[in-house]
Amino acid sequence: MRVLESRIDTGSARYAENRIAYEALLSTLGERQQWAIEGGAGRARSIERHLSRGKILVRDRIDLVIDDGTPFLELSTLAGYGQYDDGAPGAGIVTGIGLVHGVPYVFVANDATVKGGSLLPVSIKKHVRAQDIALENELGVIYLVDSGGAFLPLQDDIFPDKDHFGGSFYRQARLSARGLPQLSVVLGGCTAGGAYVPALSDEVIMVDGIGRIFLGGPPIVKAALGEIIEPDDLGGAVLHTHTSGVSDYLADAEREAYGKLREICATTNQRRITDRQGWASFVAPEPPAFDPAEIYGIVSADDRIPFEANEIIARLVDGSRFSPFKPEWGESIVCGFARVWGHLVGVIANDGIIFSESALKATHFIELCEQRRVPLLFLQNTSGYMVGRDSEAGGIAKNGAKMVSAVANATVPKYTVLTGGSYGAGNYGMCGRGFNPRFLFAWPNSRIATMASETAQTVLVDIRLAGMKGQETTEEQVAALRAEVAEQYDTQSDPYYATSRLWDDGLIDPIDTRDALGLCLGIAARQDEPAPGPGLVYRM
Ligand code: COA
Repeated sequence: MRVLESRIDTGSARYAENRIAYEALLSTLGERQQWAIEGGAGRARSIERHLSRGKILVRDRIDLVIDDGTPFLELSTLAGYGQYDDGAPGAGIVTGIGLVHGVPYVFVANDATVKGGSLLPVSIKKHVRAQDIALENELGVIYLVDSGGAFLPLQDDIFPDKDHFGGSFYRQARLSARGLPQLSVVLGGCTAGGAYVPALSDEVIMVDGIGRIFLGGPPIVKAALGEIIEPDDLGGAVLHTHTSGVSDYLADAEREAYGKLREICATTNQRRITDRQGWASFVAPEPPAFDPAEIYGIVSADDRIPFEANEIIARLVDGSRFSPFKPEWGESIVCGFARVWGHLVGVIANDGIIFSESALKATHFIELCEQRRVPLLFLQNTSGYMVGRDSEAGGIAKNGAKMVSAVANATVPKYTVLTGGSYGAGNYGMCGRGFNPRFLFAWPNSRIATMASETAQTVLVDIRLAGMKGQETTEEQVAALRAEVAEQYDTQSDPYYATSRLWDDGLIDPIDTRDALGLCLGIAARQDEPAPGPGLVYRM
């Protein structure tokens, strides 16, 4: 494969301006992530109380479980950001992927310093998303349970619906049935629904003095039966390990429990991250020839100024080597083969608006990757499909639909990174959330909406004015309408609005993208070949 050339002048004023603007974005990201880790009203007091009980903080717990010196890919750190009166940092739950004896596991760990680890609607969404990742990528799940269960004031948004609390238990039972280990360490209260996380696990460790499991806590038991009983006598670690058998192992302290958990993991007989299967093409990895940190100076500070897809690809893929497909045709989409951490991928990256030719080229390329069993990597940066008389007459609706259909039906692993705009049906054709990429990461400069704010202002104001037929409107009224729409679109297309609602699996620093994708591709490469689709290639 040929090494891509770069036309970036790292000494130019524009590069310097972009870089300064990007560094500001990263500092905001860092501050907000730190807020998720330790911020929020009353959180300092709550963290202090947690520590004073001799309990370990949630991220330190995970560190004690995973292999020394290995990273943890934390997902959706900013879930819940800006919601619930800023009262749910990180949604009170940490999810992600870490290695135990070289085997990747999904972690679902409650953060008891946020609302007692109880689950708000967005926490359930995060919990369920982690389980869906486990199912598709065939990973065991480690639950570090320290939770007050359903966040009771919002019980109608948590309890009854398909992907609510019940859906998480449904998933847990089915994951176990698929042979994917479900392992729990109980480090706090597991009341009512919360009791089913350990109860549905394959193996359970309870930590004496802090872990408790009961279907009804002491107040309920008193009200219902008149029994007055201490929490440990009702559902403590000794009772459940010695008498009820709800728990399999008793640990005197947290650290002992994590040692036992690692011992259990050594017996689960799961594939390691290095156990690659024959279908996944792999060679020794090499770093990109261009410094990934140059992405900061390439991404335009002004999102109306485009930046080239090839410049981004050159800073993500091994050796900056890229074999482009149909480079002279449908140029607003760049397609081609490359490697990320040694894994062969088919890259599809936007270079502007999607025209009919670019849509057809992408469709053809998806079919090639599907036939050759090559995972797909989508780099989204588009304002969507081209509109207008010529475009419609050229059949953009049906050509765009071919691309959407090819993406929906591709059975190879798919990964998406929002490197810029994700607007309109461009979000669909480029494998947005609705098209089930295995992972979807977004950069802090990204934007996601049905259309760009300026376009929405024109469209919505026109619609509103048409609805006010016959009424006099002043310029001020029109300006006020525009401002109202701008406010809505600017707020809702903000990447923090998106990540708060789990429209992605997390905002990441561009320079971490390659490592995150490398882990995700490695996880898929240890699985058997995904069952192929029809495997036809129609020349478009
Ligand atoms: N719903 C809503 N809020 C909850 C909650 C729940 N299920 N569980 C805990 N919280 C809140 C508390 O109100 C408290 O809020 P505050 O900081 O604003 O005062 C905070 O979480 C910490 O709870 P607290 O009881 O002070 O902490 P603790 O460490 O002493 O006890 C629990 C933690 C989880 C054992 C205890 O809060 C509890 O038993 N909660 C209720 C469990 C329950 O019945 N769940 C039903 C699930 S279906």
